[in-house]
Amino acid sequence: MSEKISVEVCVGTSCHLMGSNLIMECLDRLADNIKERIDLRYVQCMDRCGKGPNVRIAGVLLDKVTPETVVEEIKKSLI
Ligand code: FES
Repeated sequence: MSEKISVEVCVGTSCHLMGSNLIMECLDRLADNIKERIDLRYVQCMDRCGKGPNVRIAGVLLDKVTPETVVEEIKKSLI
């Protein structure tokens, strides 16, 4: 089994207002074979509130993400 990749979703107030809840819902619906390969964490703020919603995937900070781009980036990181 390959190593898990870290996925951190900012759930602070600004990112929440900009849609981080939609990202959380989308991640919850991922297929089990993807879910078991990610280490999902929620963080309170990434100090980039004006550019939310923010997500960090395998150490790379992505801003103004959509659920679609997050899933795409996760899949790319798992290849
Ligand atoms: S609330 Fe997400 S970066 Fe501050």
